[in-house]
Amino acid sequence: MSSCAETFIIQLGAGKVGSPLARLLFEHGEHIADDSGVRLRYGGILRSNTMTFGDDGARRSIEQGSTAADWTTREPGLSLDALNPIFDRFGQPSDTHYLMVDATATSETASILLEALGTGIPVVTANKIPLAEIPGWFDHARAASRRTRAPFRYGCTVGGSLPVISTLHDLLETGDTVLAVTALCSSSLSCIMGNVNRGVTLERAIADAVQRGFAEPDPLVDLAGRDALRKMVILAKTMGMAVSMEDVEQEPLLDRTYIGFQDFRDHGLERLTERLQSARRPGSVSYYVGTVGTDSHAVLGMRSYPDTSVWGTLEPSENLFLFSTSRFGDVPVSVRGTGGGPLLTASGVLADIIKAAQVSRW
Ligand SMILES: NC(=O)c1ccc[n+]([C@@H]2O[C@H](COP(=O)([O-])OP(=O)(O)OC[C@H]3O[C@@H](n4cnc5c(N)ncnc54)[C@H](OP(=O)(O)O)[C@@H]3O)[C@@H](O)[C@H]2O)c1
Repeated sequence: MSSCAETFIIQLGAGKVGSPLARLLFEHGEHIADDSGVRLRYGGILRSNTMTFGDDGARRSIEQGSTAADWTTREPGLSLDALNPIFDRFGQPSDTHYLMVDATATSETASILLEALGTGIPVVTANKIPLAEIPGWFDHARAASRRTRAPFRYGCTVGGSLPVISTLHDLLETGDTVLAVTALCSSSLSCIMGNVNRGVTLERAIADAVQRGFAEPDPLVDLAGRDALRKMVILAKTMGMAVSMEDVEQEPLLDRTYIGFQDFRDHGLERLTERLQSARRPGSVSYYVGTVGTDSHAVLGMRSYPDTSVWGTLEPSENLFLFSTSRFGDVPVSVRGTGGGPLLTASGVLADIIKAAQVSRW
């Protein structure tokens, strides 16, 4: 066992992303320590109403699931005070390296993440909601991170484990001007529409996206386009634009709100099928695509492209991000691939954790 600085992870959420993240960490902890000089340990994992402590508690809780005896009831609410049982065991934040990971899908983590950054605890998040939906949150998080020099990494909120946010940061930090970002950023809509482009029926394409784990169990969440909208807002904010969810000109995929998937199946499926069919032209493919430009103009909707273009080469579920910049001229920088899904997202979160822990050691 190598001797290197220990970082204690406080993980919020142990669901589809949080559980494989813990498994990856246990499986690869030793070589991460050897290669990166960072020994990652668990301070605790918090779920909605319960928490577990230390490496052993985390390991057993993840292996045995939500019924494991190691999950103990926790105080309601999320604040650093609620973490005192962790600080009592492993040391106060002034003396011990902690790192907070958000693997939930709730706005309830918004204030504890800001508290953590304000106290100098690095934050890694896969949760888009605070960044995209809470007014001012993103700016506060970046300001707190700058003030305390605690890393704030949110790479997995857009493109899962693909290097999307890091590419954008690199372009901006080296002084390039990013003129526009065009993004097919929803793996589930890529899976559904990619299959429809190949002649698969919409119903089968939706079922395939659910079965392969790209779509939510309730695929209406994906079809409503809110996840794609959140990602466009995060891209725009990363580019320094004051763009909120309401500012994006979104052409909805669905013609109206449905009360559940059965309601959509009964009344909306046929209409959406017709709409997708009418958008199809021989020699073209259609996807649900967003663009953010330097004028803070952000749009999201159906677009058609020649099937001889890069769009025609995409596999269903692939994401594509095209960065048009001054330096790169006519040929945009492109990032493509399937970065979503729980395991890939968890591996992206782990990569962010390692980088954040390395920086915060110095
Ligand atoms: N799945 C993907 O492929 C993917 C890709 C990119 C990004 N993401 C993002 O990753 C995040 C996690 O996704 P997921 O699929 O793992 O979600 P999930 O399966 O629904 O798990 C959410 C976890 O958060 C916990 N939680 C909820 N409220 C909490 C609170 N107030 N305090 C502490 N824990 C709380 C839940 O605990 P209980 O079970 O006790 O309620 C659960 O363990 C989401 O923001 C998602 O958008 C997911």
